[in-house]
Amino acid sequence: MNYRTLGRTGWKVSEVSFGAWAIGGAWGHVSDEEALAALHKAVDSGVNFIDTADVYGDGRSERLIARLKKARNSEIIVATKAGRRLPRQVVEGYTRENLTSWIEDSLRNLSTDTLDLLQLHCPPTEVYYRPEVFTVLDDLAKAGKLRYYGVSVEKVEEALKAIEFPNVQTVQIIFNCFRQRPAELFFPQAKQKQVGILARVPLASGLLTGKFRRDSTFVADDHRNFNRHGAAFDVGETFSGVDLDLGLEAVEQIRALLPAGYSMAQFALRWILMFDAVTCAIPGGKRPDQVADNCRASDLAPLPPETMAKIRSIYDKTIRAQVHQRW
Ligand SMILES: NC(=O)c1ccc[n+]([C@@H]2O[C@H](COP(=O)([O-])OP(=O)(O)OC[C@H]3O[C@@H](n4cnc5c(N)ncnc54)[C@H](OP(=O)(O)O)[C@@H]3O)[C@@H](O)[C@H]2O)c1
Repeated sequence: MNYRTLGRTGWKVSEVSFGAWAIGGAWGHVSDEEALAALHKAVDSGVNFIDTADVYGDGRSERLIARLKKARNSEIIVATKAGRRLPRQVVEGYTRENLTSWIEDSLRNLSTDTLDLLQLHCPPTEVYYRPEVFTVLDDLAKAGKLRYYGVSVEKVEEALKAIEFPNVQTVQIIFNCFRQRPAELFFPQAKQKQVGILARVPLASGLLTGKFRRDSTFVADDHRNFNRHGAAFDVGETFSGVDLDLGLEAVEQIRALLPAGYSMAQFALRWILMFDAVTCAIPGGKRPDQVADNCRASDLAPLPPETMAKIRSIYDKTIRAQVHQRW
């Protein structure tokens, strides 16, 4: 496992880290035992950074991570999120009182006195025009409730606006072979400002692992079933907002480029790691074998420029029209 410096925090984090949404909920049933086995495998594979949120399984994901931390001696940095407890995403909900109370809940769930990294959880765009929200976060940092803060965003424009706030340490954004726009304008600016980037949904919700087919089905409580058209939250969080049939067509084009010895998941993650502005990819994993597969991407050779150009061309021809101007 290779490590990269996270923004200006001084932390060296695993370039393949762990996304803990699926072990919380909204991805079909995952038992506590399976979830903990996946988490332990991540640490065994060199992962020292975990992304979670207060709402993943209503605190379940955070509580599982607290159990992991108790069982392991090594330093494990936890990035959690706040904001999605609001019944409706409106800027008026981002009050001092609400933020403080959400953070207190996360502190309890994570069994800690100070959060390592708190991210605003895809708040409405208007939040980035309200400096007072960031002042609250500064105050909570001064009070010792959180060490650093960052944001998780849906849109490139939100990312660009967020990094105008000097204490935003990290931006989490969807970035993968099917979502290439962040690399154009945002990455150079984030790099220049030394803002860490967490590449989320790196496998396009599993689509880029190459295991799905046109007739693949998903259980009722899996967002790949219930959020396919954005019924519950931003449709971009499910298969990166790419129509499944079109995505499968592009996956087959990518498969034709697969270097010997790489799994499709590793290829997708290795592609992300080619961008030095990215601090880490945070693939979700429900089982130890998935986690081990994903973590090996860090040890694989860089992709040649011709392969990068071909993936860009697949994106341009097949995917771009659906996503490029949308997020
Ligand atoms: N708004 C936000 O801030 C936000 C939104 C989304 C995600 N996130 C964060 O980003 C993380 C990653 O995104 P994500 O979990 O949505 O999507 P993802 O990482 O693209 O896909 C994860 C899913 O793909 C499958 N998978 C993983 N590794 C695999 C492998 N090696 N082989 C085959 N299948 C594999 C697993 O599901 P199956 O086995 O069921 O296929 C897993 O749950 C999340 O866990 C969360 O921490 C944040």
